[in-house]
Amino acid sequence: MNDDILLSARQLSVRFGGVLAVNQVSFDVRQGEVFTLIGPNGAGKTTVFNLISRIYTPTTGEIDYRGPNGVLRLTDQPPHQIAGLGIARTFQNIELFEHATVLHNLLIGRHTHRQSGLWSDLFFGPRTRQAELQARRKAEEVIELLDLQHHRDSLVAGLPYGVRKVVELARALCTEPRLLLLDEPSSGLNVEETEDMAFWIQDIQKELGITVLMVEHDMTLVSRVSDRVLAMNQGEVLASGTPRDVQTHPGVVEAYLGTIDDVSNLRRPEGSAFERSAA
Ligand SMILES: Nc1ncnc2c1ncn2[C@@H]1O[C@H](COP(=O)(O)OP(=O)(O)OP(=O)(O)O)[C@@H](O)[C@H]1O
Ligand SMILES: [Mg+2]
Repeated sequence: MNDDILLSARQLSVRFGGVLAVNQVSFDVRQGEVFTLIGPNGAGKTTVFNLISRIYTPTTGEIDYRGPNGVLRLTDQPPHQIAGLGIARTFQNIELFEHATVLHNLLIGRHTHRQSGLWSDLFFGPRTRQAELQARRKAEEVIELLDLQHHRDSLVAGLPYGVRKVVELARALCTEPRLLLLDEPSSGLNVEETEDMAFWIQDIQKELGITVLMVEHDMTLVSRVSDRVLAMNQGEVLASGTPRDVQTHPGVVEAYLGTIDDVSNLRRPEGSAFERSAA
């Protein structure tokens, strides 16, 4: 694997019963880039994320990843090691502890990062205290970065959807990932919130130097933040390249947009940005 590659997926396939959800998909994610998967509903995008997170094991193929201690075969790692290797994610449907505060959600997220052992934890030794302090410092830093000060002590359950999306992003950042997986960061957000999300993603890439692998339907957001794009359809790779190359690729236009009349048939949340940008 070349030095500039952070993650390399080769010939990945996964079958669920009769459905070949991902079929011979290969791609490389370069260090420091924003790499985006696009494609119509059911294309296999989230399944690719679930293969990287080790929620699923591929039927064939493998993923290599440049971890903190060198390149390793990610597909041989148990799922509980993934966070420790510097991979964090947000989910298509927000997954937070609803009845905890924003700060607590961030601290819980951070626990995957803890270096202190069980004995140290039991006796509340110096390493544990040190880890707690570090976790708090990181959480406060992320709260500041994503402008969440105002919501710091609010229960997640009472927050508007758009803020919860940012909290989920914050929780992922608290683990100090090298690779951040974002599954539809703009879904359910209004125009203004989507613009903010684009700024956060750019900050995460440029200020924090974190590599981002994203699934996204909003083409305005995709073009704005992505260095490279990979389009999938029915589990297969259709095209890859710059956002412009991919968006104008005839196969992508046909599969993703169909005729312009078919755009409204794509299942998107009400008033989603995809519909806005396609309209
Ligand atoms: N655990 C599972 N069991 C059975 N089928 C599954 C499972 N997970 C995904 N699939 C199927 O795999 C295909 C790809 O699904 P996936 O969720 O990856 O699509 P997607 O590209 O993320 O779509 P969307 O844009 O709607 O989120 C679909 O046909 C889906 O029904
Ligand atoms: Mg999905």
